[in-house]
Amino acid sequence: MTALPLLLLNWYHKYGRTLPWRDHPDPYAVWVSEIMLQQTRVETVIPYFEKWMKLFPDAASLAAASEQEVLNVWEGLGYYSRARNLHKAAKVITEKFNGQLPRDLTELCSLPGIGRYTVGAIASMAFGMDEPTLDGNLRRVFARLFDVDEFADSPTGEKILWELAAQNLPKGKAGDYNQALMDLGATVCLPKNPRCLLCPLMEICEARKNGTQESRPVMKPKKAVPHHVQVAAVICQRGRVLLAQRPPEGLLGGMWEFPNGRVAENPAKELTKVIYSATSLRVRKGDELGVIQHAYTHFKVTVHAFRCEPVFIPKSKNLKWVRLAELDDYPMGRVDRRIADKLS
Ligand code: ADE
Repeated sequence: MTALPLLLLNWYHKYGRTLPWRDHPDPYAVWVSEIMLQQTRVETVIPYFEKWMKLFPDAASLAAASEQEVLNVWEGLGYYSRARNLHKAAKVITEKFNGQLPRDLTELCSLPGIGRYTVGAIASMAFGMDEPTLDGNLRRVFARLFDVDEFADSPTGEKILWELAAQNLPKGKAGDYNQALMDLGATVCLPKNPRCLLCPLMEICEARKNGTQESRPVMKPKKAVPHHVQVAAVICQRGRVLLAQRPPEGLLGGMWEFPNGRVAENPAKELTKVIYSATSLRVRKGDELGVIQHAYTHFKVTVHAFRCEPVFIPKSKNLKWVRLAELDDYPMGRVDRRIADKLS
């Protein structure tokens, strides 16, 4: 074994985190946890993972659930296509692979929502294969260890980093090696103010030697994030409110929301027109319920929520009058859940 895996595995056995999916060697649990952990912090994931494993302990129980049940459990984690893909993949696993995740890398990669990162993570952690993986933490650790000055988010940078991830894999211990790098990235090799003095790899870190650790990884300059102003209509009638279901694919696919639309300048003035052109619903504007700010990955929104009265509501299977006490049964994104919480 080279110095890197040796130092890293010794450190991991002493300081590695105790995490619930590490007590579950079964591939299904590894898969679920790895999908939940994409773009999401470990502390946020733990309660979701525990609830999920109680409700859907295996691929068969997940495949048998409805999409609404699945989205309900996922609510609050964000990036809801992850939940829809887990659900779709569970159906394929049940129908095609006898309820077990396939050990074959090409078959694994064919499942919805499973890309190169997840294949590497499942293969190494669940099946003990000598496979590399590369997430945000690993990118940062390798970019510093080898002082990579290419843009880490460019095709060339990606290629270099994947090669580095594959180069020092210890035979038969790739799962621990990959998880040790994740823990190191999350607790020591931090994005800002890395704790180099506590790092088991301090002596072999090129960036530390060159004093470049704060400027690795090198990332392309970020584009400005657009900001939209929206109105949301909380249309009330006889103790019920009108919810609209979003289309099955795309942002917040399949989730429920208060009918809404984008405004140019003045939310109160534009509401009736905007709601009509975005949703074909005719409403009369009432009081403002509140203003909600939210940041998605590629844009930010300010949403002005108004109580409204229905004037003309066309029949549609994407619309539903829902009792206030039943709002919790309908999966929603954060903005709409915050509006719903103002009503109870
Ligand atoms: N982030 C992504 N996967 C992880 C894992 N298995 N352990 C810790 N952090 C992670």
